[in-house]
Amino acid sequence: MPYSTITGIGHYVPKNVVTNHDLTKVMETSDEWIRERTGIEERRYITKGKETTTTLAYEASIKAIADAGIDKEDIDFIVFATLSPDYYFPGAGVLLQRELGIAKTEIAALDIRAQCSGFVYALTTADQFIKSGTYKKILVVGAEVHSVGLDFTTRGRNVSVIFGDGAGAVILEATEDKGVAIQATSMHSDGTYAEKLSYMYPGAHGGYFIEKYAIEGFDVDYGDPEFGGYFFNQNMIDQNRVYPHMEGQAVFKMAVRKFPEVIMETLTKAGMEVSDLDMLIPHQANLRINQFVAKTMRLNEDQVYNNIMRYGNTTAASIPIALSEARDEGKVKKGDNVVLAAFGAGFTWGAVVLKWGRD
Ligand SMILES: CC(C)(COP(=O)(O)OP(=O)(O)OC[C@H]1O[C@@H](n2cnc3c(N)ncnc32)[C@H](O)[C@@H]1OP(=O)(O)O)[C@@H](O)C(=O)NCCC(=O)NCCS
Repeated sequence: MPYSTITGIGHYVPKNVVTNHDLTKVMETSDEWIRERTGIEERRYITKGKETTTTLAYEASIKAIADAGIDKEDIDFIVFATLSPDYYFPGAGVLLQRELGIAKTEIAALDIRAQCSGFVYALTTADQFIKSGTYKKILVVGAEVHSVGLDFTTRGRNVSVIFGDGAGAVILEATEDKGVAIQATSMHSDGTYAEKLSYMYPGAHGGYFIEKYAIEGFDVDYGDPEFGGYFFNQNMIDQNRVYPHMEGQAVFKMAVRKFPEVIMETLTKAGMEVSDLDMLIPHQANLRINQFVAKTMRLNEDQVYNNIMRYGNTTAASIPIALSEARDEGKVKKGDNVVLAAFGAGFTWGAVVLKWGRD
């Protein structure tokens, strides 16, 4: 049975830097509040109409393809993780295939909807397709554009100050050498918490779950459409429902529990212990969460890679961006035991333990 190994990696963030001070011009917030609670100093936003989730993914992908030294026509599968696709449908995977100019290859393109755990889910999925012998060269991407969908008034400040735009990509290839491969993966979810971090409108639910689970403050006046007609309506805009919703403390509490749990589970599956770990690349949701996890697991500062200070939370893109930067900075070296771990909306969480096989 083949193993899978990352043979190429790349990332791309838009040029437009938005500092905490910039945000104070449009909402009541402060650099101090944002830094203290999240560690974030600045983030990147796209230029509207010129960049999209798919174009960021394209930039990251061509770097990963060049880094792997393969022809883009040799890619036999695309797995694209995002919660901010350019179209509601079709998915971002097919748009990326078209931008790469490889639509004629007719390879499959799969979108993964697991939010902040998206890249871990995507890599785990790709790993299985390689192990089964179905595919040999898979492009795995995480990309997000949050800046066009946030509430930039004071009402939305608890969410909008956190998120940023960006993309990261890897090429995953089949190998016989376990010494450079993914060693173990884990994925989990608990839908009990679905609405704690969510974007519910527009949507097909028509208020059903809001009534069923007595979720307060999120109902909408649908009017009385005779046939359908409630996926999206003017009242959703008028009642300020078309923005992400986050119960920060609920997310924080669960995240600091689940990160160590899933990292330990996956290390154990790989036959490793915490002392074997060279570098932890956690999802970049909040610097305080990552510091808490490091402390719980007794990891040194130089065993955990963080770049949330510069990019904010880029959801499915955060892990491949961080892994790519860590490699560029020489902090992830050939032979290192690397752990990728994520937690996010759903709630979903997961981890990947791998032996880094690139220079
Ligand atoms: C979002 C988060 C930073 C908020 O920190 P917190 O300590 O929980 O803050 P709270 O939401 O309790 O709000 C505390 C106060 O700050 C205010 N506040 C919220 N956002 C603010 C902002 N951007 N600037 C200034 N004040 C803000 C609140 O209105 C509240 O004011 P009040 O006490 O007068 O009511 C924190 O909960 C968090 O990081 N959670 C995890 C989120 C996460 O990881 N999300 C992504 C998951 S993948």
